Amino acid sequence: MKALVLIGGFGTRLRPVTYTVPKQLIPIAGKPMLYHVLDLLPPDVEEVVLATGYKADLIDAYVRAHPPRWPVRTVSEAEPLGTGGGMKNAGDGMSDPFYLLNSDVIASVDLRALAERQHDRGGIGTMTLAEVEDTKPYGVAALGEGDRITEFVEKPEPENAPSHWINAGIAVWQREVLDAIPAGRAVSFEKEVVPGLLPRGLYGFRLTGYWDDAGTPERLLRSQRLLFEGGRGGKGTVPTGSFGTGPIAVLPGATVRGASFGRFVTVGAGAVVDSGAYVENSILMDGAHVDRDATVSGCLLGPRSRVHPGHRITGVVLGEHGEA
Ligand code: GDD
Ligand code: MG
Repeated sequence: MKALVLIGGFGTRLRPVTYTVPKQLIPIAGKPMLYHVLDLLPPDVEEVVLATGYKADLIDAYVRAHPPRWPVRTVSEAEPLGTGGGMKNAGDGMSDPFYLLNSDVIASVDLRALAERQHDRGGIGTMTLAEVEDTKPYGVAALGEGDRITEFVEKPEPENAPSHWINAGIAVWQREVLDAIPAGRAVSFEKEVVPGLLPRGLYGFRLTGYWDDAGTPERLLRSQRLLFEGGRGGKGTVPTGSFGTGPIAVLPGATVRGASFGRFVTVGAGAVVDSGAYVENSILMDGAHVDRDATVSGCLLGPRSRVHPGHRITGVVLGEHGEA
């Protein structure tokens, strides 16, 4: 099977960081969001097609420098085509069926079992579903007999949500789904196409492990915690010469001597946490600098941003070169 990964979108909810870095390259628990998504793919996947748009050059460069285990091809959009338009644009030569993955979700899910379910039940596709309290930011499914999806509403008002089971952004589709997407214009797959596919048999695959969409600062940090707790953040040990509980992920070229750490931190490549500083539940991107005796909690610090000596910040997002 092949996989199509949707990587367009402006990441507006993660600005100002996403003014200069696409959200898929933000490191969570030690590696970019995109690579946690790719980690879900079985080793025998034949090819991964990345449907890119916004900052496609940065994605390309990163993937070239850090080649995943599968052959990768990128197909980029000159203008954002939406999820459906992106699928249509990049869908030539897809396998039948194929995996479709959003690039901003973290999940514990067995994709082989998902493909088997699609094979056994037939129909046009099988969509993994996560159960969440607040369904508003998601696509919501009503389930009938044998978990057949009987209704699908994208981002409904709470009173119109048919259940708490939402599209987890990880699915298997038969190739014919691409024929149902209008060509040559932006299309929201979830809003404009999925409801019309229900008569052809769309089934739900209920997730039992963790799941989150990492598309807002709050959910990004929650995703990082889930990844560390799920053992996907590496060893997590605080390096010699620094202190605290961890788990943390320290990328090559970072300096953390004399600093201390609480739980769930990524220290990006070349980032610095000076002596006497304390960091917890945060992501420090490449070259971010937390100066001596500063305290950082629940923050996303963009590349080469700086927290000044002794400053204490909570819940702050700094863009590239931002200061606090
Ligand atoms: N190629 C391409 N072109 N990809 C795009 C575009 C585009 O114009 N716009 C968005 N994407 C990518 C994003 O990078 C992301 O990986 C995925 O498509 C979904 O877009 P989001 O903007 O993150 O959508 P969402 O989070 O509001 O909703 C989607 O994901 C939810 C689960 O996280 C929908 O699929 C919902 O139904 C779903 O519940
Ligand atoms: Mg999203």
